[in-house]
Amino acid sequence: MNEITKAVIPVAGLGTRFLPATKATPKEMLPVVDKPAIQYVVEEAVSVGMRDVLMVTGRNKRALEDHFDRNCELELALEKKGDAERLASVNLSTELADIHYTRQGDPRGLGHAVLCAAPHVGDEPFAVLLGDDLIDPRDPLLAQMRQVHREHGGSVIALMEVEPERSHLYGCAAAERDGTSPVVRVTDLVEKPAPGTAPSNLAVIGRYILEPAVFDVLRRTPPGRGGEIQLTDAIRTLAATGHTVHGVVFSGRRYDTGDRGDYLRAVVRIAADRSDLGPDFVEWLREFLLDHQPVEHRSVDERPVELRPAALTA
Ligand code: G1P
Repeated sequence: MNEITKAVIPVAGLGTRFLPATKATPKEMLPVVDKPAIQYVVEEAVSVGMRDVLMVTGRNKRALEDHFDRNCELELALEKKGDAERLASVNLSTELADIHYTRQGDPRGLGHAVLCAAPHVGDEPFAVLLGDDLIDPRDPLLAQMRQVHREHGGSVIALMEVEPERSHLYGCAAAERDGTSPVVRVTDLVEKPAPGTAPSNLAVIGRYILEPAVFDVLRRTPPGRGGEIQLTDAIRTLAATGHTVHGVVFSGRRYDTGDRGDYLRAVVRIAADRSDLGPDFVEWLREFLLDHQPVEHRSVDERPVELRPAALTA
């Protein structure tokens, strides 16, 4: 069995859920404490030995390339100041992995983005990590998925139990489950099922180990939900045509950093648990919560000022 060394990270999305912050900055560059969200994802891949990373990018993603490239001017300035700690943090993102880039061109969906990786990946199994999904480094999911791949071969996808009313936001899997084992056999998949029609409460989260056969399937996959070529549809075809697809049901901490509420939760949780920032921050947070009044309970004068364009206030 081939060891998996290649990780594909699609990062061509527009980040509309985070506008206007993402008007000129890629959503993957939004900081989670003091590192951009994308760096956590690359670190996750590297932590299981996947040092060959391909980012499938689109327009306005130059900042991503700059982040993982050298910045000689900055390095020199930090060196002169003798700031070894910051210099190390700057160098880390450069040396972390062997990062390659390809452009998606037409944004025709996640399946199409993964297909753009075919020439780089070649004929070997590979991982796909979605940039919006941040998996807490203390809850190693990829290592578990790689183990399932070693044991069973085929493809392995990450799943999470969700409330039925949230199923329509995800790809959903039908699966054969053996007792309470987190490893299941996937029999069917539906991308963002209409409310009330999900085959189970198991939602696909953004980690996949895929066999290269997926590329041929993707080439033949017609546009699906939203008129886009869906990765979920291609994996469904794999499962329906005799390929093995397993799921790992993840019960650890996962944040959708493309969602504002979840992004805030990720920042607070990761900051609170850091040894350098956590103790002071948690103390402040406790006091803040004791004092904090929900906005609707405050007098009008105490409510935060909302700025409106001059044209609307004139
Ligand atoms: C994508 C996938 C979907 C999956 C989700 C997980 O959707 O298409 O199957 O459940 O990621 O984050 P997106 O969130 O990009 O719309």
